[in-house]
Amino acid sequence: MEILAFGVQSDEKPLIEKAFAGHHDVRCLDVFLNEDTAPIAAGYEIISTSVNATLNNRVLQTLAAGGTQMIAQRSTGFNNIDLEVAERLGLTVSRVSYYSPYSVAEFAWALVMAVNRRIVRASIRTRDFDFRLDGLMGRDMRGRTVGVLGTGKIGEAFTRIAHGFGMNLLGWDVAENPECVALGMKYVDKEQLFAEADLISLHVPLLPSTEHIVDAAALRTMKDDAILINSSRGGLVDTKALVAELREGRFTGVGLDVYEAEAGLFFLDKSLDVVEDDTLARLVTFPNVLVTSHQAYYTVDAVGQIIEATVKNVLDYQAGRRSENVLVPAVS
Ligand SMILES: NC(=O)c1ccc[n+]([C@@H]2O[C@H](COP(=O)([O-])OP(=O)(O)OC[C@H]3O[C@@H](n4cnc5c(N)ncnc54)[C@H](O)[C@@H]3O)[C@@H](O)[C@H]2O)c1
Repeated sequence: MEILAFGVQSDEKPLIEKAFAGHHDVRCLDVFLNEDTAPIAAGYEIISTSVNATLNNRVLQTLAAGGTQMIAQRSTGFNNIDLEVAERLGLTVSRVSYYSPYSVAEFAWALVMAVNRRIVRASIRTRDFDFRLDGLMGRDMRGRTVGVLGTGKIGEAFTRIAHGFGMNLLGWDVAENPECVALGMKYVDKEQLFAEADLISLHVPLLPSTEHIVDAAALRTMKDDAILINSSRGGLVDTKALVAELREGRFTGVGLDVYEAEAGLFFLDKSLDVVEDDTLARLVTFPNVLVTSHQAYYTVDAVGQIIEATVKNVLDYQAGRRSENVLVPAVS
């Protein structure tokens, strides 16, 4: 059988083909699944999609009408999938519930240190043979306070690194993680976390209850010299409100690997297009802001595990085996 994989980066293609070898052929497309590209899936029983795929009602209807029965999403997050519609249409949808949380946690720390120590600006300067230090002053992490929103797998890995730096640990989550408590984390309400933390890092999933958890009010509560990092989902931050605060000259640094309107932009080369997103255009002009395009997970280890799990999800589906990676049909 041939499987159709959408949104495959060139680095990933040989890994996907190798992982499926001996099981199935794979047709890898670099385009993302959306309303325009969904008709390509006609005739494919099994497709695989990437994190920025659009799996709304219309796309799912098109897929089902074309004969698709199984969607193997190659990510942990699944806020891009209308699971109710998928279930109603009788589709099987899987995701990858576990892969290296260190990939994302370590990248979040790369953002922290890059904005804190002005690494990008320093590199641009030295390439231009400008060796001045003005404006490049950072701050020690040791002894400062980190606030981690969401202390699951990635939040815990991020916290371990913060512990290594010798930071005071504050956490906010619906459930306390005993591993984080053992490291000395104190769980507080999010208002206290926003007010007291020198560094705030977001690791909660995007849900209706967490959408714009960092809104105008939360941003105003934060210290003027705080560092804010979002490597979870763009919708957690009200970006327009963030831009308004940055215009006031606030924050030591902001590192964003995700952006609420990233679909249709991130993972694509838009360098020759007219920029239509004024918020993003303004955001990248601030000297204390660093934006990357959803690459925190992109290590050879994490991508390898994602692909391995995706192959297993497909084989489980074909053998009628249930696994924790199946999102629908829900277990009754
Ligand atoms: N940038 C990237 O490349 C990338 C890659 C993978 C994951 N992510 C994001 O990171 C997020 C976290 O991943 P994880 O593997 O640590 O997930 P996880 O499920 O292990 O942890 C999520 C944590 O959030 C908590 N939580 C859930 N709902 C909450 C709520 N309403 N309020 C407060 N806390 C809540 C949970 O209790 C849990 O501790 C994912 O949901 C995804 O959005 C980003």
